[in-house]
Amino acid sequence: MKKTIRDFKLNNKKVIIRCDFNVPLKDGKIIDDTRIKNSLKTIQYAIDKNAKVILLSHLGRIKEDQDKIKNNLKIVADRLSDLLAKKVIFVDEVVGDKVKTAIQNMKVQDVVLLQNTRYEDLNDKKESGCDLEFAKELASYGDIFINDAFGTIHRKHASNYGISKYLESGIGFLVEEELAKLAILNKPEKPFTIIMGGAKVADKIGVIDNLLPKCDKLLIGGGMAFTFLQAEGYEIGNSILDTDSLEYCQKLLKEYPKKIVLPVDVACSTEYKNATNRTEKDINEIDFHEMGLDIGSKTLSLFENYLTDSKTVFWNGPLGVYEFPLYAESTDKLLKFLVTNNSKIVLGGGDIVAAASKLSLTDKFYHVSTGGGATLEYLSGKDLPGLENIEEKGE
Ligand code: 3PG
Repeated sequence: MKKTIRDFKLNNKKVIIRCDFNVPLKDGKIIDDTRIKNSLKTIQYAIDKNAKVILLSHLGRIKEDQDKIKNNLKIVADRLSDLLAKKVIFVDEVVGDKVKTAIQNMKVQDVVLLQNTRYEDLNDKKESGCDLEFAKELASYGDIFINDAFGTIHRKHASNYGISKYLESGIGFLVEEELAKLAILNKPEKPFTIIMGGAKVADKIGVIDNLLPKCDKLLIGGGMAFTFLQAEGYEIGNSILDTDSLEYCQKLLKEYPKKIVLPVDVACSTEYKNATNRTEKDINEIDFHEMGLDIGSKTLSLFENYLTDSKTVFWNGPLGVYEFPLYAESTDKLLKFLVTNNSKIVLGGGDIVAAASKLSLTDKFYHVSTGGGATLEYLSGKDLPGLENIEEKGE
């Protein structure tokens, strides 16, 4: 068990908390502040324990100078001030004199947010390349390091992995909860059903390999279903095909013929765009000039039947082309169906979480993970660099 923020005396200590404030932005506004809200518990705990709270985060990816403008963390500092009902002192630099002065001037319960750690990527990729001198500099700002950035836990970067080499370290409440909730998928109560969607099989191979032996059914929708259907010998027309994964799908279908459930019908069209009418066809009726854009209603009923008795469910990836409202239908209907179900349901991966959030359903599930890539890496059974240097309890 990793040490958590509860295992440290925080009184009058400078506590560096790595958050994942990588929030979606549009036209200079935050369009979903879930990640900021989910960080509040750890930050508030440190404030209540009379710590001096120093926050680090990345935002977006910084490849050239102009990326800095749209990925300035000031916008997060403002939102955080509102949510904490307290002034968050924003320092427009990650290293340098301004940072040192701001930290020297801190009083207990003050909260300082430094500029986007990835600004330092313009400086020989110091953040993403995990430059240890940079990590040491960050560590010099505080006495204790708390990693609460679950969304970034699969990255080996200076501000999460590097820094924890140089300070006493623990995890925050968000990371603790993610790990505890996701862990049920490793020893699930049965029947355990997985729903997989999204475009490419290749992105999910690690998770499928790790979870398929543990599940009772794997229900496949989304673009990735067509690679499985082609592997099964169906004509898929112009539907999306992940050619490199065909052989892999054939192997899985042979190994798990009863576990893998593929669509029996789809909503299809001759064009990749939103339409006004849905045309649904059985899977053996797709013409060579058509493409499947969502699972059909017979498949939806089939999936619902398997899900009714499930005790544990993991869902990653939408069942249709979610950006087209007409083809978001099955995903939305299945989400609404599942909230009436008594099983422990975990949603993981950005797109399905965004779909649940659009329907205001996120608080209705057992767990909605804040991680995208991080959740998939964790569920692939891989080691997470962001946890590597965090001390175990009792060390
Ligand atoms: C995410 O949004 O998945 C995390 O914040 C990690 O971001 P990254 O993929 O840019 O490293």
